Amino acid sequence: MRAAYASAFDDANPLAALTVGERPEPELPEPDWVTVEVRASSLNHHDLWSLRGVGLSAGQLPMVLGCDAAGVDPSGAEVVVYPVVSDPGDPRGYSILSERHPGTLAERVAVPRANLVPKPAGVSFVDAACLPTAWLTAYRMLTTRGRVADGEAVLVQGAGGGVATAAVVLAVALGKRVYATSRDPGKRERIAELGATALESGARLPERVDVVIETVGAATFDHSLKSAAPGARIVVSGATSGYEPKVNLRRVFAMQLEILGSSMGTPGELADLLALCQERGIQPVVDRVYGFSEVEKAFARLHSGDLFGKVVLDHTR
Ligand SMILES: NC(=O)c1ccc[n+]([C@@H]2O[C@H](COP(=O)([O-])OP(=O)(O)OC[C@H]3O[C@@H](n4cnc5c(N)ncnc54)[C@H](OP(=O)(O)O)[C@@H]3O)[C@@H](O)[C@H]2O)c1
Repeated sequence: MRAAYASAFDDANPLAALTVGERPEPELPEPDWVTVEVRASSLNHHDLWSLRGVGLSAGQLPMVLGCDAAGVDPSGAEVVVYPVVSDPGDPRGYSILSERHPGTLAERVAVPRANLVPKPAGVSFVDAACLPTAWLTAYRMLTTRGRVADGEAVLVQGAGGGVATAAVVLAVALGKRVYATSRDPGKRERIAELGATALESGARLPERVDVVIETVGAATFDHSLKSAAPGARIVVSGATSGYEPKVNLRRVFAMQLEILGSSMGTPGELADLLALCQERGIQPVVDRVYGFSEVEKAFARLHSGDLFGKVVLDHTR
């Protein structure tokens, strides 16, 4: 079957480590695993990290890339693939598709049957393929971890990213007052079109917020603390600009702030997110859809960093 896979590691130029070609059909490691025919997949920064060799060892090469997919199961049902696989051999107790098991950027992918979530008819394969990683992460950050409530305000930092654009759209759909920062004037314009009040990175907000969505890390963390209302939840799922921000602990205890880590989400949260998208007609922010034959172009777009929303692969073309 055709697939996009890491054939080497290249820290300086991860695109040079990407190969598109034939790979063997996926194996089913346990009896409760099934094969899904992939109709659409989407790219994540995780795929670039894999090409750089982060989270993979040379002995695992070649590794089919990709965490996100929507497709058709052996019974013909339309499904979304939940990408987290229980894995006692990993220190976290789990791995994400393309870390220990081949990923979704292929004609077919093998996953435990329990990882299949029904795709609502009103959500397209392309939109559904955006949801399992970035959108699920944003959904859990806002709801389960951030416990965002009626009448509350939300700040989303670095709002051009995949998780951040998802957080803006979801927080607006949930009826919250949403502020979003970006360094880029063009991205601020587009964020405003999504219904958020767009601000320059580091700008003073008109009010303090109850939930902060943090994926930028060192570059924005001090601003996140300063923008937080008493008792606010600062939810962290990434640190693109650096893992070691300076933290003013006086502000943390005096304002009784909660700093909460969050990673991915559960299959139940993915089902809830799909239902929310169906009910409210929410469409993921898609930067561009490429045919699978253009997978190298899709990776180049992701690597350029100059994107707004998700890069999707349509496996039917
Ligand atoms: N824990 C999980 O389950 C999970 C899941 C998905 C992603 N992640 C992590 O979450 C992070 C975000 O991923 P992503 O793919 O959504 O987005 P991303 O492309 O890594 O970037 C997020 C945003 O960060 C901002 N940014 C980057 N460097 C900055 C700097 N030096 N100063 C200020 N802002 C900066 C940019 O915003 P502007 O250009 O708009 O300013 C960018 O759009 C990554 O670190 C990723 O690994 C974690």
